[in-house]
Amino acid sequence: MIWNRQTRYTPYNEWSDSKVADLKKQVQQSKWRMKHHIQPDSGLLNDPNGFSYFNGKWNLFYQVFPFGPVHGLKSWKHLTSKNLVDWEDEGLAIKPDTKYDSHGAYTGTAIPVNDKLFIMYTGNVRTKDWKRESYQLGAWMNRDNQIEKLSKPLIVNAPEGYTTSIRDPYIIQKNGKYFAIVGGQTNDNNGAALVYESDGLEDWNFNGELNLDGKITGYMVECPNLIFIDDKPVLIFCPQGLDKNELNYQNIYPNVYSVLDGIDLKNAKVENASHPQLLDDGFDAYATEAINAPDGRALAVSWIGLPEIDYPTDSENWAHCLSLIKELTMRDGHLYQNPVAEVKELRTTEVNLDGESEQIDLDRNNGSFETEITVPANTTLNLKVANAKDDGYLEFSIDTNKGEIKVDRSQTGNPFGEKFGRTRISSVKAHKSVKIRLVIDVSVFECYIDNGYSVMTGRFFLNDLPSVLKIENNSSDLKGTVWEWRK
Ligand code: FRU
Repeated sequence: MIWNRQTRYTPYNEWSDSKVADLKKQVQQSKWRMKHHIQPDSGLLNDPNGFSYFNGKWNLFYQVFPFGPVHGLKSWKHLTSKNLVDWEDEGLAIKPDTKYDSHGAYTGTAIPVNDKLFIMYTGNVRTKDWKRESYQLGAWMNRDNQIEKLSKPLIVNAPEGYTTSIRDPYIIQKNGKYFAIVGGQTNDNNGAALVYESDGLEDWNFNGELNLDGKITGYMVECPNLIFIDDKPVLIFCPQGLDKNELNYQNIYPNVYSVLDGIDLKNAKVENASHPQLLDDGFDAYATEAINAPDGRALAVSWIGLPEIDYPTDSENWAHCLSLIKELTMRDGHLYQNPVAEVKELRTTEVNLDGESEQIDLDRNNGSFETEITVPANTTLNLKVANAKDDGYLEFSIDTNKGEIKVDRSQTGNPFGEKFGRTRISSVKAHKSVKIRLVIDVSVFECYIDNGYSVMTGRFFLNDLPSVLKIENNSSDLKGTVWEWRK
């Protein structure tokens, strides 16, 4: 398939059922299909959308182009879950089928209102001469998952002073009003977060641009989110083109958070925004969506993939996945991220490891497991995730002298994205013990460091299912556990 404008933007009804069936068949044969991460049946998955608790279930949607491993005409795919771990496929929810979303039903969020779910998303439109128009659109989903799009846009393009790159509305209810924070860009190329307000969800007024320091917003803000943890407001966003002198990152685009002392959405004012920090020190996490869930938890889910990089699964006609659902907590102004407690339901057989362990062999037909290891102060541990064929590995080097956790994905047998570096480093306090919780699911890793103080996430592609852990360490006090996950 040659991917040009025409093929990327072919309307959905012009793709034949048999073409899609063939793609799905091809994708199912991939050795890189994960066991417990949300991944597309075919084509390209990107941002999580509309994460919410509605109708007695968790609802989660994601951006998808079902016809190939490229960014094309996007729609929303819908999934539901009772436990945040096992997801049911509910089919395509929002298709790009009106004049306001003709070139993509882009990212958005959702909020339950009475017995319906209100969805706010961006309609991406390209004119004949390929100029961008953006509409913030609304839709209602009922308890039978039927979706009714509102016939008129909620917001047409951006106010004066901003370009038509305005997208990814984050909807939130506060003090009896609805607010939407939308990512945007000023005419002089600065990223911006724009705040709108509504009483009844269908009429929206512009309140202003959040007074974030222009140095931290890059040239375009994507996917802004606002959550409250222990009453502290936290902004999560993707400042494209962020100056590396402001924040040292290696990924093509960063995903960051900033803790605020306060926020006044009416006047679009933040109080003392902390300097942004990376949400993830790994390779591929982006476009995180976070919510304050009705059970009191702050939850987040990230896209594991980045634009403008080729991934090994492209040749199999699929790309990317979502992260596990993470719980966010705060301590001393620092954001902690951990897999939700429900993830422990995946654990089956347990194996202990200690300072004498050299290798743990797991079920070679599974590929999904988790390990928790405490590395004593002033020691080193090299952990290699390999396969039974022993022809490649993903390597973690933990040095508690330096306070450094390094991941290297150059030796897997199928390297990619090397232009953006082969390794990533996460730093913790030197001369202290470090606790590592590493999740491996066939072709994705999520490494949670010191109870979620930092996270490193990434894809990696071995030639066979990961089933071997090689342990090189210089401390007899090393302690850990490995759990197979259910298949
Ligand atoms: C972020 C993003 C969003 C946009 C969506 C389109 O990855 O570029 O800004 O709405 O993806 O799929």
